[in-house]
Amino acid sequence: MTDKRHMLNEHVAIVTGAANGIGRAIAEAFLDHGCRVLATDRDAGGLQSLANSQPDRTIAITADATKASVAAQAVEKALSKWGRLDILVNNVGGLVGRPDLEATEEQWLATLSLCLSSHFFWSQAAAPAMAANGRGRIINISSNAGRYRSNTGTSGISYSAAKGGVLALTRSCANALGPQGITVNAIAPGSVLTELGVAEAKGLDPDLYDRVMSETALGYFAPPSEIASIAVFLASDDASYVTGATLLANGGWCTS
Ligand SMILES: NC(=O)c1ccc[n+]([C@@H]2O[C@H](COP(=O)([O-])OP(=O)(O)OC[C@H]3O[C@@H](n4cnc5c(N)ncnc54)[C@H](O)[C@@H]3O)[C@@H](O)[C@H]2O)c1
Repeated sequence: MTDKRHMLNEHVAIVTGAANGIGRAIAEAFLDHGCRVLATDRDAGGLQSLANSQPDRTIAITADATKASVAAQAVEKALSKWGRLDILVNNVGGLVGRPDLEATEEQWLATLSLCLSSHFFWSQAAAPAMAANGRGRIINISSNAGRYRSNTGTSGISYSAAKGGVLALTRSCANALGPQGITVNAIAPGSVLTELGVAEAKGLDPDLYDRVMSETALGYFAPPSEIASIAVFLASDDASYVTGATLLANGGWCTS
């Protein structure tokens, strides 16, 4: 069998929300496969601990990922340091404010900004550099809530709407960028053992954790590494003919 350990060797990746949870697991998996990673997050301490593990192959940028100007500057930084950009993982996301129809205008817009607009801004900034190489990979982190629906009282209506938007954004960007050799795919995780996943499930609705477990065919919350391995596949040449797709990684948790 071919050794695929270094199948992303010397590739350059940007990962947003890389200090913790799924984004961190993806950044670590990319580093493990030989990538150089520009990791960005608003959590400076988390980023630093990531960068400390592979300082020569990591750039850490502490910033708010919802700003288009931050995306443009980060791409510039990756290009000036490493001269290329191969992979973008749009990972930041989460619910801002109330999950229900009582959400304020500000909360609704903030959730869309974090989960959906940020993915557009980073894709817009990254695509020209990938097109210059004739190859690129954009991976958007959506959610089971974007494919099916929100969990009432927890993940939220605005979150679900934004994550559904990510799937439509993925298909449209795949169509627009395919001719330039750039694939665009989404991963829609179900329940993942991160601060966000567990806090939402346990904190907002004490019964939800047990209910999700009972509704999930595989019967467990995934460790972030089980999402990261999908990102590695989508970033690799093994996924060369996959674009516009959504990979559901929900352990069989199909809410309808
Ligand atoms: N955990 C789950 O069960 C689950 C399920 C489905 C989808 N997701 C999605 O996966 C992605 C990652 O979620 P997670 O569970 O790892 O969350 P997390 O809260 O564990 O990590 C999110 C990271 O993003 C950073 N971040 C948040 N807002 C930011 C901003 N404006 N600018 C820069 N950085 C910011 C945080 O500091 C944190 O490091 C999100 O898009 C989330 O919606 C998670």
